[in-house]
Amino acid sequence: MAALRFDGRVVLVTGAGNGLGRAYALAFGERGASVVVNDLGGDIHGGGKTARAADVVVNEIRAKGGKAVANYDSVEDGDKLVQTALDNFGRIDVVENNAGILRDKSFARISDQDWDLIHRVHLRGSFLVTRAAWPHMKKQNYGRIIMTTSAAGIYGNFGQANYSAAKLGLLGLSNTLSIEGKKNNISSNTIAPIAGSRLTETVMPPDWIKALKPEYVMPLVLFLCHESCPETGSLFEVGAGWMAKLRWERTLGATVRRKNIAMTPEDVRDNWEKITDFTQSSHPSSNQESTAGMIKVIQDIDAAAEAPPAARQTQSTGMDPELAKAHDFAPDTFTYEPREVILYALGVGMSTKEDNYLQFLFEGSEAFCTLPTFAVIPAQMTMMKGLMQEIPGLKQDPVRVLHGEQYLEVYKPLPTGATITSKLKIADILDKGSGALVLYNVESFDEKGEKVAFNQFSIFVVGSGNFGGKRASDALIPTATVPARAPDASITESTHVDQAALYRLSGDRNPLHIDPSFAAMAGFDTPIIHGLCSFGYAVRHVLRRYANNDVSRFKAVKVRFAKPVLPGQSIQTDMWKEGNRIYFQCKVVETGNTALSGAYVDLTGSSEQQASVVAPSQLQSDKVFELMQDQVKSRPGLASKINAIIMWVITKGGKPVSEWTVDMKTSKNGDIYRGKPKSGKAECTLTVSDDNIMDLVTGKLAPPQAFMAGKLKVKGNIMLAQKLGVLFNEQAKL
Ligand code: NAI
Repeated sequence: MAALRFDGRVVLVTGAGNGLGRAYALAFGERGASVVVNDLGGDIHGGGKTARAADVVVNEIRAKGGKAVANYDSVEDGDKLVQTALDNFGRIDVVENNAGILRDKSFARISDQDWDLIHRVHLRGSFLVTRAAWPHMKKQNYGRIIMTTSAAGIYGNFGQANYSAAKLGLLGLSNTLSIEGKKNNISSNTIAPIAGSRLTETVMPPDWIKALKPEYVMPLVLFLCHESCPETGSLFEVGAGWMAKLRWERTLGATVRRKNIAMTPEDVRDNWEKITDFTQSSHPSSNQESTAGMIKVIQDIDAAAEAPPAARQTQSTGMDPELAKAHDFAPDTFTYEPREVILYALGVGMSTKEDNYLQFLFEGSEAFCTLPTFAVIPAQMTMMKGLMQEIPGLKQDPVRVLHGEQYLEVYKPLPTGATITSKLKIADILDKGSGALVLYNVESFDEKGEKVAFNQFSIFVVGSGNFGGKRASDALIPTATVPARAPDASITESTHVDQAALYRLSGDRNPLHIDPSFAAMAGFDTPIIHGLCSFGYAVRHVLRRYANNDVSRFKAVKVRFAKPVLPGQSIQTDMWKEGNRIYFQCKVVETGNTALSGAYVDLTGSSEQQASVVAPSQLQSDKVFELMQDQVKSRPGLASKINAIIMWVITKGGKPVSEWTVDMKTSKNGDIYRGKPKSGKAECTLTVSDDNIMDLVTGKLAPPQAFMAGKLKVKGNIMLAQKLGVLFNEQAKL
C-alpha cells in the first residue's frame, strides 16, 4: 500500500513550536504538506511571547527540503493564522488544534484569570481558528480537523477543574463539527494524547518524559488528517505507541413513572440497581439514537394506564388471546437428509477451517451429526405457516412481525435425516402497548412419534397492541442475566459477506436477508443476517468451548435478539460457565452492539462421563476378531497367503475404543490379538467404526465403497488391505 502523503495539502498546526505540535509539523513537512507553524512562544502558563519557537521548527522543516512558514499570533487571533496559510499557500486543508497552556490550581483557588485564560486558549482558541478555516473547507469540499482534549477532561483530575472543563468542551465542539461537516467531506476528530513535553515535565518522572515521545502520538494524527481516512466524530486515547477509540455506554435503564401517579425520588431509589446495571448496555452514537427510545417510553406508559378491560377491547381490536390459544393447527411435516444438515451447518458458519468439521460437513464421517440448533428449522417452517393463517382472536400482519426471542430444547440428538412432524400452538399473547407479543410453541416428533424438540418463538407484532391484554405470562420462557464478572471465555468469528444468502437456503426466505430494497423498506442500510443464524453461531461457540463439539450434550438454549448482525461482520460470543449452564451474549465486534442478549445454553453431564459408557465388551468388533482367530487356527496356510502385519483401530462415536493386530507375518501360523503389534511394525492400519465393521465382514459394505464414503480409513500400504478379503469371505457367514 502507498505511503500516506500530503502533497498539495496545506496544514496549520497551532502551538507547533514545542512538544506534540512540533512532532506533527515536522512529520507533515516530511510527507509533502505545506505547513503553517504557529506558536506564540510563551511560557507554559500563558505568559510572554517570542518568535523563536516557531522559527526553529520552520527551519527544521526547510532543512529537510519541506515547505513551511511561521505564524507568531495567539490562537485567539484565529483569522490571522488561517490568513497566513491563504497568503503563503492559497488554501487550508488541515487544522490541528494543539496549542495549550496549564494553570493548575485546586478548585477553591482558581481565579477568574486562571479560568478565563485556559478557556480562551484551549476552547475559544480552537473555535476561532477552526471558524476561520471552515468556509474555505466548505467551499473546496474538503477539510480535516483535530481537537486536542485530555484524560483530565474525560475522567477529571485533581487541580485541573479549569483545564478539564475547557478540554471536554472541545469534544462537544468536534462532535458537532463532524455532523455539520459531513456533507462537505470535512471530518473532525478528537485526541487525548499522553506525551513527555514541557507541559508534563513538572508532573511526570524524567524517565517517563523520555519514554513517552510525541512521535508516538504523531502517526494517529497524520492518519486521521489524511484524505483516505473517513473517520469522523470519534475520540481516541493515544500514547507510547498505543491508541484506542472511546465511546459512550448506557445501561438498559428503567422506566419508573406510571401514568396518573406522581413520580417520586423513592421510585428512583427503588429502581437504582436497574438504572445503573450495565449488564445489558447499549452504545448510543448519535443524538437521535439517544432519544429514540423516549417516544416508546411515553407510549408504553400511556398504554399501560389506559388499556380498558380485555373483553370490551376484543371486538374492536380483533384480539382475543383465549380464542387464539384454543386454535387447533394441523400437524405439519418436514423431511430432510444429510444435504440439508450440511447446508444448515455451513449457513451458521461451520467451515472446513475448523478442526472437527468432518463431523458436521461430511456425511461419510463416522461422527457425522446434526447441529442441535437445526431443530429450529422444521419448527420455524411450521410456525411461519401459522403466521400466514387467519387465526380467530389474533390480528397479525405478517410483514410487521419481529422475532423477539427464541427458546429451543432438544430431547435426543437429531438424526442426520428424518421426517419430523411438528405441532403448533399459541401459548399466549401479551399486550406490550406498541405491539402484541405472540408466543408460538412448536413440539416436534420423529417417525417413531418420539418428541425430539420443543421450540418457543416469541414474535412481536408491531401495531397489534393496546387490546387490554396482560403484559406478562408464565408461558414465556424467561431470558437470563449474565453474571457481572468478566466472561470466562470468548470466541470471535467472522461471518461471510454471503452468510445470509447461504443461511436462507435452509428455509427462512424472507427477502429482508437478501434484497437491499426490501431491507431499506424495513429501515436497514443492507440486508441483515437472520437472528437464528447468529443464534446458530453462538451455540456452536458454546459447544466448541464447553462440550468438545459433542452435540449429545446440548439440552436447551434461550436468546433475545437485540440487534442485527450484518453479513461480513464478526460475532463475539462471551461465555460464563455456572455448572451445566453456560450464560452468553453476542456482540458485533465492528460496532460493539449486543446482538444476542439474556442468553444461555444448558448442557447435560460432561463428555468424559459419556465416553466411559462404551465398555469394550459391548463392541461387535470383538466378536469379529475372535471368530477371525478361530479361522486362522483352523487354516494353517492362511498366514503365508496374506504375509503382512495389519492393524485395526475400532471407533465408536468418532473416538477410538479398541485396537487389534492381525499378524500374518512374524508368527508362522498367524496370530490375531488385541492391541498394537507385539513384534514388527504394522504395514497397514485400518480405521473403521464398530458399527461398520459388521457390514464390512458380512459383505453388506464393499471395502472400496466404504473407503470412498469415508467409512474406512487406510494408512500405509493400501494393497495389503485387499488381501484381507480372504478372511472376510469366510466371515460372511456371521
Ligand atoms: P507544549 O507546551 O510542549 O506545547 C504547547 C505549545 O503551545 C507551546 O509551544 C506553546 O508556546 C504553544 N501555545 C501556548 N499558548 C498558545 C497560544 N495562545 N497561541 C499559540 N500557541 C500557544 O505542550 P504539549 O504537551 O505538546 O501539549 C500539546 C497539546 O496537547 C495541548 O493542548 C495540551 O493540553 C494537550 N495535552 C498534552 C498532554 C501531554 O501528555 N503532553 C496530555 C493531554 C493533553
